[in-house]
Amino acid sequence: KSAKTETLDHKNAEAELGGGQKRIDAQHKKGKLTARERIALLVDEGSFEEIGKFVMHRTRDFGLDKEHYLGDGVVTGYGTVNGRLTYVFAQDFTVFGGALSETHAEKICKIMDLAMKNGAPLIGLNDSGGARIQEGVLSLAGYADIFYRNTLASGVIPQISAVMGPCAGGAVYSPAITDFILMVENTSYMFVTGPNVVKTVTHENVTAEELGGASTHSTKSGVTHFACANELECIQYIKKLLSYVPQNCEDEPVRLPYEPSDENRPKLSAIIPENPNQPYDMREVVEEIVDAGSFFEVHQAFAENIVVGFARLAGRSIGVVGNQPAVLAGVLDIDASTKAARFVRFCDSFNIPLLVLEDVPGFLPGTDQEWNAIITNGAKLLYAFCEATVPRVTVITRKAYGGAYDVMNSKHIGADMNYAWPTAEIAVMGASGAAEIIFKREIAESDDPQAKLQEKVLDYTNKFANPYRAAHRGYIDEVIYPEQTRQKLIRAFQMLENKVATLPKKKHGNIPL
Ligand code: COA
Repeated sequence: KSAKTETLDHKNAEAELGGGQKRIDAQHKKGKLTARERIALLVDEGSFEEIGKFVMHRTRDFGLDKEHYLGDGVVTGYGTVNGRLTYVFAQDFTVFGGALSETHAEKICKIMDLAMKNGAPLIGLNDSGGARIQEGVLSLAGYADIFYRNTLASGVIPQISAVMGPCAGGAVYSPAITDFILMVENTSYMFVTGPNVVKTVTHENVTAEELGGASTHSTKSGVTHFACANELECIQYIKKLLSYVPQNCEDEPVRLPYEPSDENRPKLSAIIPENPNQPYDMREVVEEIVDAGSFFEVHQAFAENIVVGFARLAGRSIGVVGNQPAVLAGVLDIDASTKAARFVRFCDSFNIPLLVLEDVPGFLPGTDQEWNAIITNGAKLLYAFCEATVPRVTVITRKAYGGAYDVMNSKHIGADMNYAWPTAEIAVMGASGAAEIIFKREIAESDDPQAKLQEKVLDYTNKFANPYRAAHRGYIDEVIYPEQTRQKLIRAFQMLENKVATLPKKKHGNIPL
């Protein structure tokens, strides 16, 4: 080997060692993998091409002129995931705790620009102590450069952020702008200010895990879409997520081969209980309708009164939104509305058709909801459906009451095909509430108010607690036998395959935020 080749060998080895073996061991001891190990798990074997491996910081303050690491705390490049081009950056905690410097940010921006120009997803594996403190405003500028690109890339290429260690302060806002966040239980946390600052300012005693760990953000705040048991699971989820989405907003998701067979699903006829107030699990309905084992739930532990996720129908990627009667009777509240609105907008951005399964008794009443703006937040879901131009199909399985009927992808707001099961009840409200209001005087003046109420409830039920009024008007395209739902949906989405719909020309809409 020539001396020059040996120099390159030496530099490559040095870069690959990041902050050194001692720090790598410390990383492993915490149950964490290194940046390079994470990338190796994510991309197809041998496909990774690194960019900027020898980049170094330019800081001279605080002794940093004597401390340099090749790569400067982030590994960036491109590779393939299941054969499809993907850009990736992975912060290296072994170098300055993965802290973000001017040059570290430049490396990330470089691959973001490439991802945008070439129309491929961007995956960020975050593990960082935040802004490189020794660099001051230079590192803040670096964050802003990334946020700006995240925003411009939003809706153009899918952006996925995994948080696999600390992610604090300004650093949280890059993942926050991206489409999906995944966190690892016990080894990752995200917060704007950490436990010490919280203690000083609000006198609350809280651990990092309680304040911003994976379970907090997957259940309480909804900041993260997936709480993963470990890093391996986290990487697997990223790969799975990518399998449902296209490379960019002008591309279509990958379609898997599909052999038509008997699409009848008799189990669907037995899911709705006799008693309309009895819950059932909407996930069972989803599982019966979509291709076996294809349902991939998103935001599973947050706002469980609505279920959202990706699935395949006849091999084609779809987004599913379903009210969940098993939790709070499937009512729409603030969290459910924002959760579903964001999912609907993602699907619409990336040409993923939407299937809505509806069983909704209305919006959740109460001061908590009103004072925290259920009006504005509920409007997000309404707005998201109204502006979605992808193929949109609704199946009303049971209740479709009040304003929530309009919101949940009704015909009136642009849904393409609306089906109802014979068990559907499409009305302004439940029969007893309705009877109590409109027959109030008649009931009060009756000799037997209880019997009168029963009579009126029955009257209202017979008139409105069914799908036929809506079907007579054409608001429902067809009342279908539940067991035929899968077949009907396969055909409907095939029929809608070349749908063209455009919105009025505008700079951008003003969704109620
Ligand atoms: N800037 C520069 N260096 C940083 C850094 C930062 N923001 N955060 C961590 N580091 C360095 C540490 O000096 C340490 O260097 P060393 O390996 O040479 O000793 C290394 O990264 C690891 O940090 P350490 O504190 O030993 O790891 P930890 O796992 O115990 O704690 C943090 C991790 C992130 C909680 C802790 O490092 C921290 O609080 N960092 C500062 C966070 C912050 O306030 N950032 C600025 C606001 S955005």
